[in-house]
Amino acid sequence: MHNAHLFEKYDVPAPRYTSYPTVPYWTEEHPDSAVWTDLVQHAYSLDQRLSLYIHLPFCEQLCTYCGCNKHITRNHSVETPYLETVLKEWNLYRRYMHGKPILRELHLGGGTPTFFHPDNLRRLLEPILNDVTLDPNAALSFEAHPNGTTTEHLQTLYDLGFRRISVGVQDFDDEILRLIHRFQTKEQVEQVTETARAIGYTSVNYDLVYGLPRQNQAHIYRTMAEIHRLRPDRIALYSYAHVPWLKNGQRAYDESDLPAAAEKRALYETGRALLEAEGYSDIGLDHFSLPDDGLFIAAQKGTMHRNFMGYTELYTPMSIGLGASAISDVGMAFMQNEKTVAGYEAMVNAGQFPLLRGHLLTREDRCLRRHILNLMCKNYTEWYWPEQQTPELGDIIERLKPLEADGLIIISPMSVEVTTVGKAFLRNICMAFDAHYWHKVPESKVFSKAV
Ligand SMILES: C[S@@+](CC[C@H](N)C(=O)[O-])C[C@H]1O[C@@H](n2cnc3c(N)ncnc32)[C@H](O)[C@@H]1O
Repeated sequence: MHNAHLFEKYDVPAPRYTSYPTVPYWTEEHPDSAVWTDLVQHAYSLDQRLSLYIHLPFCEQLCTYCGCNKHITRNHSVETPYLETVLKEWNLYRRYMHGKPILRELHLGGGTPTFFHPDNLRRLLEPILNDVTLDPNAALSFEAHPNGTTTEHLQTLYDLGFRRISVGVQDFDDEILRLIHRFQTKEQVEQVTETARAIGYTSVNYDLVYGLPRQNQAHIYRTMAEIHRLRPDRIALYSYAHVPWLKNGQRAYDESDLPAAAEKRALYETGRALLEAEGYSDIGLDHFSLPDDGLFIAAQKGTMHRNFMGYTELYTPMSIGLGASAISDVGMAFMQNEKTVAGYEAMVNAGQFPLLRGHLLTREDRCLRRHILNLMCKNYTEWYWPEQQTPELGDIIERLKPLEADGLIIISPMSVEVTTVGKAFLRNICMAFDAHYWHKVPESKVFSKAV
């Protein structure tokens, strides 16, 4: 394949930059709630628009490839105490937001949100939705496991205002699904897709993963043949993040079954070529959409944003994460909740914000964060204005020069632009701007590899 040497060279551990600074560099352990509530109040006084993420961590079975924060159980009696706790956490926040916040975005992530009975999802969401003003362009979305998403789930969430669904597909091949311990069929994916469309959902996303154990070119061709048939509006084709030091389930794999960097990238390139032939556009790190999809339009207009949920159409300065391990961002600070369900519930039920760790962004953090966001969303960033400049820029340019020599970027006196070849190395390019990383390179394994 083209550039195989570059894929070997740049296959180094690198963050995905859903935040800057990245979580391992956050400085506040068990932060003070008083500081956090001041920041929330301040952000809300400037702008009452809100983006809400709710983490629903339960799954009935462990998918061994999974890198997310989840709690495996088949005992559905966990649903009620958890949803009641999330509502209590919402009410803790509401004390610091006068009037009704304007909801622009609501995403249910997991874990498996469809683990919850539809009635319980309604019990969770109705009080929150009655407590906000819905922005006319609000986007309400949820992650659906094809095995377990019923017509009742789809109808209940549609009635509550959801119009977007993200289906966890990963791969269509039965052998790959068996290897990652994921129980679902092609027919279930098709049924969820068609039922969602018949009910009135306007955007269907599929999550796919490349680089899974024993996945080869034939699997990618087969998966893309199903894409041709089912035509989701958006596709996230994620690079498999192998972090067995963090996720025990991934230790189930024989590492020799994982494709090496160039072979792994070739899976992506095949996927991309087949998607482009089907009319999908590459809109940013591993994400594709059809030309009439809102994300494509936002990418064209330069208004696309990236946050902990990945790429989004709208930029909302205040984003609050409810539930175990959820992350909030109020512009000046990030905060992550307690990761375990028990720890999260104990703190909220004691009337406290369940804060695990956070970070107050310095002026330089905010400036570098903007550059990284620009690169991730626009393949370009510039430093003409004082607020775009930091003393770190000299070192950044030195770190960028070898990438320019490899043809990944073009550096001008006051800007840098990603080339077509460079788009495959966005994580490596953003790393040049990651002052925290270069000031303290991790000694042990922290990030998955870039390819
Ligand atoms: C939080 S998971 C929730 C999906 C939902 N529980 C399901 O199983 O359908 C969201 C997405 O993250 C992606 N993902 C999870 N683990 C990953 C890994 N190790 N590498 C790359 N992508 C991963 C998958 O595509 C998955 O659909």
